[in-house]
Amino acid sequence: MLRIAHALNSHLLGALESAFPEAVASARVAGAPLDPQLGPASKPEFGDFQANGALALARPLRLAPRAIATAIVDQLAADPDFGALCLPPQIAGPGFINLTLKPELLAAEVGRRLADPRLGVEPVAPGGAPVVVDFSSPNIAKEMHVGHLRSTIIGDALARVLEFRGHPVLRLNHVGDWGTQFGMLITHLKQVAPEALDTADAVDLGDLVAFYRQAKARFDSDEAFQTTSREEVVKLQSGDPVSRRAWQLLCDQSRREFQRLYDRLDIRLDERGESFYNPYLEAVVADLAAAGLLVSDGGAQCVFLEADDGTASQAPPVIVRKSDGGFNYATTDLAAIRYRFAAPPEGDGARRVIYVTDAGQASHFAGVFQVARRAGWIPEGGRLEHVPFGLVQGEDGKKLKTRAGDTVRLKELLDEAVERCDADLRRRLEEEERQEEEAFISEVATTVGLAAVKYADLSTNRITNYQFSFDRMLALSGNTAPYLLYAVVRIAGIARKGGGDGEVPEVLGFSEPQEWALVRQLLQFDAVIQEVEEELLPNRLCSYLFELCQLFNRFYDQVPVLRADEPARASRLALCRLSADTLKLGLGLLGIPTLERM
Ligand code: ARG
Repeated sequence: MLRIAHALNSHLLGALESAFPEAVASARVAGAPLDPQLGPASKPEFGDFQANGALALARPLRLAPRAIATAIVDQLAADPDFGALCLPPQIAGPGFINLTLKPELLAAEVGRRLADPRLGVEPVAPGGAPVVVDFSSPNIAKEMHVGHLRSTIIGDALARVLEFRGHPVLRLNHVGDWGTQFGMLITHLKQVAPEALDTADAVDLGDLVAFYRQAKARFDSDEAFQTTSREEVVKLQSGDPVSRRAWQLLCDQSRREFQRLYDRLDIRLDERGESFYNPYLEAVVADLAAAGLLVSDGGAQCVFLEADDGTASQAPPVIVRKSDGGFNYATTDLAAIRYRFAAPPEGDGARRVIYVTDAGQASHFAGVFQVARRAGWIPEGGRLEHVPFGLVQGEDGKKLKTRAGDTVRLKELLDEAVERCDADLRRRLEEEERQEEEAFISEVATTVGLAAVKYADLSTNRITNYQFSFDRMLALSGNTAPYLLYAVVRIAGIARKGGGDGEVPEVLGFSEPQEWALVRQLLQFDAVIQEVEEELLPNRLCSYLFELCQLFNRFYDQVPVLRADEPARASRLALCRLSADTLKLGLGLLGIPTLERM
């Protein structure tokens, strides 16, 4: 539909130009070209699109909006190419122009989609600059928590959409692998478990997390321990071989554990942790000093922030170098931004950098983004975007905990989703008196269980907090993964039963309102994908797919398909096929594989 919308827009512009040549020319000279304001129709009964531009033109043209709309419509009526796209336009209300696409055009568009594996989603021109998606990013020697899971799932879906559009995407795992935590941990381990520092696999991640907690407790209460830990960080950061080796082992240990989770969720990430930027930290300070942004405040080097209007901001300054000479999280992020936008080979040459973290880091990112802009590191048109998400809560609205009150381990969370699916499936098979192989049961339970966890996360508006509920995410009805996966199985089954080897008739034709509603929804797919690419809200794609299923069900319940006579039957089967294809591709872009049978 985007292609058609673009065509309509140029016809409208042409009509404006012919009706009001002087106004169009002078607006162009003034650098504010007239805009027909084409958008989707506000209600289905108004057609497919509406153009509201006549209202904004009333003042500059000194004419009533309806008169302007009439003049535009008269021009359109004289344009045969426009006539091939639309039925005669209708003027409504104060001067809206309602546009309804010709049924044969919509039907032909369905045919075109069926022959197009991209389902109408145009790829961007090749050779574009990379887009960085910084996501997941857990911390070494700490447990990966549900916030990281959200980041992993949302970031992966965004990366998939961007990749599908044809952008080169750098999927960066900005793991916390540098800084004070290692000083504490290494100091503590030297005393209590020295083998962990020179032997691979001497401890597992669970132990490591426990050691980390002990180390942190000592750090908070014992001054001597604090001093030694700080010295240990300095040793590590200056490349001391013993510290380096210990650090390497600790990182490997955590990395293997993280990787198991990524493999299970089918998520690809390139690790480029905080330590990567260590060699660039000095240059950050030098750049900021040269730009006159650094201010010394109580021994620390800071950049004070500005409000939008350029006055001093109330927000705390970004501390670039602590009074003890150490760098911090923000310094590393500044170095990362500088590197990501810098032209290769010194950097990634990105034009868009996206960060997926919990909303709690919003002010951190607002601060470092501003500093990066003022330092001049962001090229013209370069975009820096924080994609925040809310907290994961338990059903009681509090922080998610296990029944015993512990933090939830991600592995156990995924295991439970799969186990519950397994039990549900066995119950259903028994009710239906179906016999299935163990391999089938395990494949279905795994696919549905993991899909449910992903989809529950993606389908809520990410900005709001999100209540984790197995019962809700595993329900067979409602906006859930099981509902959608089941719909795919059903629709693909209908298309298969219809036979015809997926052949699409030369000319498609539809008559029923349920068919048209489904056609229009199917043709929105390209627009939805581009919207997700722009706004970075995967829940838009989820809602779209859910609505698609509902429209499909209405169509299938109320309009005969397999029992219909030709030629209607072939066209309706083509709708079934396109519905299945759209659901499969859409779910795939959310990182959710579909099943043939359930
Ligand atoms: N490691 C951080 C955390 O666990 C997330 C890092 C996000 N990315 C970044 N470039 N700061 O909260």
